[in-house]
Amino acid sequence: MQDTLSISPDSGITLRPLQWPQDGARLKDFDASYSSPVIYEVAQDGMAFSLQQIVLPEPFLKCYPMDDIAEDVADADASWVAEDSDGKLAGLATVEYQEWNHSLLISGIFVTPAYKQKGIGRALLGLIDAFARKTPARCLQLETQNTNVPAIHFYLKQGFRLCGINTGLYDPAQVHPHEAALYFTRDLQRD
Ligand SMILES: CC(C)(COP(=O)(O)OP(=O)(O)OC[C@H]1O[C@@H](n2cnc3c(N)ncnc32)[C@H](O)[C@@H]1OP(=O)(O)O)[C@@H](O)C(=O)NCCC(=O)NCCS
Repeated sequence: MQDTLSISPDSGITLRPLQWPQDGARLKDFDASYSSPVIYEVAQDGMAFSLQQIVLPEPFLKCYPMDDIAEDVADADASWVAEDSDGKLAGLATVEYQEWNHSLLISGIFVTPAYKQKGIGRALLGLIDAFARKTPARCLQLETQNTNVPAIHFYLKQGFRLCGINTGLYDPAQVHPHEAALYFTRDLQRD
């Protein structure tokens, strides 16, 4: 597996394994925010769930906190950063191998706003996929929110499929009252 790669010769973006503690101080200020003018509203009818995209009166904004990044990195089996030619961090990904169900959990994948839609997320997923193939994992797994429509579209484009919904995971006192967890998976095809 390649440990370091460039997105393209002229992008100036390099992906490499995260180095702790050198990268730690910069990660505390890492901007892992998103904004979306639409969300997927979850409706339940008996045992059936459905998701419908609705337009919000104002864009939904969220910033994933980096307060626990030290623990997240310590818990990770592998982690990577993307950095630009000035050494500024543009992306971050952490994964945990789950022995009990033979899956690789993507515990974090973030690209800072200035560097979104430049192929960094896809490149991080490429490193994740290559790492997963060194483990007995049968699939990649992740959790996101029904409010994070940009990430949902990113995952769907990258071949993930929706595999679950949890409407009771988050404390409504702490999040948007209709925020729900959505789970996505992608099989690891092996020869
Ligand atoms: C989700 C996220 C990681 C995507 O990273 P990215 O570097 O912007 O994505 P890429 O440029 O690699 O895009 C890869 C593909 O996804 C598509 N894509 C990315 N963002 C998209 C969006 N907002 N809407 C639709 N498609 C999108 C791209 O068009 C591209 O498609 P292609 O393969 O057909 O060319 C990034 O938006 C992000 O970090 N968001 C904030 C933090 C976050 O929400 N993390 C996920 C938490 S679960």
